[in-house]
Amino acid sequence: MVVPNQSIIEIGVGTGLLLEQLLKIDPQYNLTGMDHTAAMLEIAKERLGDRAKLFEADIISMSIPQQFDVAIFNGGLCAFVDTGSQCDFYTHLTDDESNVLPLQNIANCLHKGGLFIINIQGVHDNHDRSLPGGIVYSQEIFESTTNKDCIEKTFYFKKDERVLAQQRLIYRIFQGEAIENIFNQAG
Ligand SMILES: C[S@@+](CC[C@H](N)C(=O)[O-])C[C@H]1O[C@@H](n2cnc3c(N)ncnc32)[C@H](O)[C@@H]1O
Repeated sequence: MVVPNQSIIEIGVGTGLLLEQLLKIDPQYNLTGMDHTAAMLEIAKERLGDRAKLFEADIISMSIPQQFDVAIFNGGLCAFVDTGSQCDFYTHLTDDESNVLPLQNIANCLHKGGLFIINIQGVHDNHDRSLPGGIVYSQEIFESTTNKDCIEKTFYFKKDERVLAQQRLIYRIFQGEAIENIFNQAG
């Protein structure tokens, strides 16, 4: 449980939406956010002002020079996916070794006995969603033909059937003991 006065870091803070919600629960939380995307941090700064410390860093390559009581990871590099019968671990890094590094960096930035909170999300599926301004978001999922134990997902933003933007992402899927192995290796 997160209690007031604990120091909390959100890794991959994005635009600061989650920290803003925490501040609504208790303005006394001691909050820090880090992200490797400067443009996201700029928006987070506008949203949070001086209510949270923010810094730019990549959790894969950089260890955090301070320790916290709680680390939160809510979307981004990795997440758990609830399939209904089990929870799988999805990450954008495809090999085993690279996946230990960010988890190790998170373990190192926690005080002994600290809490690591990571999000659980639903299964990735094909769907379309209408957004304001006549924009349609759609995503398509494929089994990867190039990488073992991976799926690929293409996101589109379309207007009048014209593609405004798109991105293709890869997810490595860890299951069962393989999840325990990388978390144990990371400490
Ligand atoms: C889906 S957004 C989630 C934002 C925020 N956690 C929230 O709940 O609103 C994921 C964020 O993780 C950041 N991110 C992804 N990989 C990262 C990495 N290796 N190091 C630091 N930040 C990363 C992205 O820049 C992005 O801002």
